[in-house]
Amino acid sequence: MSGPANVPEDVDTEDCLLNYSYIFSPDVLKNKVAFITGGGSGIGFRIAEVLMRHGCRTVIASRSLERVQESAAKLMAATGQRCLPASMDVRQPETIKAAVEKMLRVFGKVDILVNNAAGNFLCPASGLSFNAFKTVLEIDTIGTFNTSKLLYQKWFKDHGGVIVNITATLSYRGQMLQVHAGSAKAAIDAMTKHLAVEWGPDNIRVNSLAPGPVSGTEGFRKLGGLLMAAADHCKVIPLQRVGTKTEIAHGVLYLVSPAASFVTDFNFLPE
Ligand code: HXC
Ligand code: NAP
Repeated sequence: MSGPANVPEDVDTEDCLLNYSYIFSPDVLKNKVAFITGGGSGIGFRIAEVLMRHGCRTVIASRSLERVQESAAKLMAATGQRCLPASMDVRQPETIKAAVEKMLRVFGKVDILVNNAAGNFLCPASGLSFNAFKTVLEIDTIGTFNTSKLLYQKWFKDHGGVIVNITATLSYRGQMLQVHAGSAKAAIDAMTKHLAVEWGPDNIRVNSLAPGPVSGTEGFRKLGGLLMAAADHCKVIPLQRVGTKTEIAHGVLYLVSPAASFVTDFNFLPE
């Protein structure tokens, strides 16, 4: 922790933290396994790091094998935990199935799913092609469903589990140039509630975590300029500042930990 606001350390690059101060017990996720989509970069990378620092083994899965391989090497070096890189596209169930089967062969189980993969860009509705709108819905919304369903079929149905969906606050008030991403994330928030109700009897908790702008990320590089230019955007954030990747990862850590054992069907907003 540093400074009066207790903001935890972060680095803006795709690198692990140089210093990490524990809030939770370091072995709170000992022997757990987490599958993190988009875990090779940005928020997903930091989520993988923080979970691994708490004893968790991870699979980080995205389209670029090179990216997840490089990130897995950094994560293992910094945390001493195992990280399995997997190449898959959340729009293609066969590729997810192959990655999940590989994980089950290597780790023998899975406890946690973090649906973090997403695609986004700034574009007015009038300029958005039909395929552009569809592409973002396919990656964010359908990708979250595809991955959740495969994990459910392959493991969670018989063993229980916990799912965290990374969404966004974009649709809460409406946002210029973001009809595609705002619609996609709102649908995931709805999906979270449906799946929490359907899968609760199988001992599966499902929550979504909706950040506003987060520093040191591709999302912020793509959207931050616009958001910050929009009439002192920070003033509408309760803490009057953007969040950090470590803070989002801490929200996920709480939601997947035993401290949240009765928390499900919940939209958790760290900002
Ligand atoms: C308008 C665009 C566009 C742009 C692509 N398209 N970029 N339209 N403005 N900047 C259109 C294309 O022309 C095409 O439509 C369609 O979208 C699909 O584009 P492809 O390049 O073929 O798609 P694909 O290769 O699958 O790439 C998906 C992607 C890309 C979303 C376009 O940017 C990507 O892979 N992004 C992943 C990383 C990312 O975006 N991270 C940020 C997440 S941040 P046509 O009609 O021409 O075929 C985030 C923050 C939320 O979500 C909240 C912040 C506060
Ligand atoms: P990011 O680094 O670009 O993360 C997105 C990840 O998703 C990448 O690792 C990407 O890897 C992967 N991905 C994209 N399309 C995929 C596909 N079809 N199949 C599998 N993986 C795919 O962006 P970020 O800013 O950290 O965002 C992470 C999450 O936080 C997203 O859900 C985003 O919407 C959310 N969020 C971000 C902010 C912010 O300010 N950054 C705010 C609110 C919410 P590949 O390219 O290798 O596939």
